[in-house]
Amino acid sequence: MSTEPSSDRIVVKAVDNGPYQIKGPIRLVDHENNSYELGPGRTTLLCRCGMSAKKPFCDGSHARNGFNATERST
Ligand code: FES
Repeated sequence: MSTEPSSDRIVVKAVDNGPYQIKGPIRLVDHENNSYELGPGRTTLLCRCGMSAKKPFCDGSHARNGFNATERST
């Protein structure tokens, strides 16, 4: 199976010991209904460690706090 995505698909990648990497196009709406547009081919990082001060976005806190997430699906 190819790991290269079609250009019209949203791609979500779990980064080892880090955030979710999202490749657009998407519209992200946070818990306060703030909307963020991410154009085709643009990439952003969403926090999955829970420590970011800029949620839903990653601010690098995972690296400073030793977040560990390398589990694999089986
Ligand atoms: S994953 Fe980067 S700050 Fe949470």
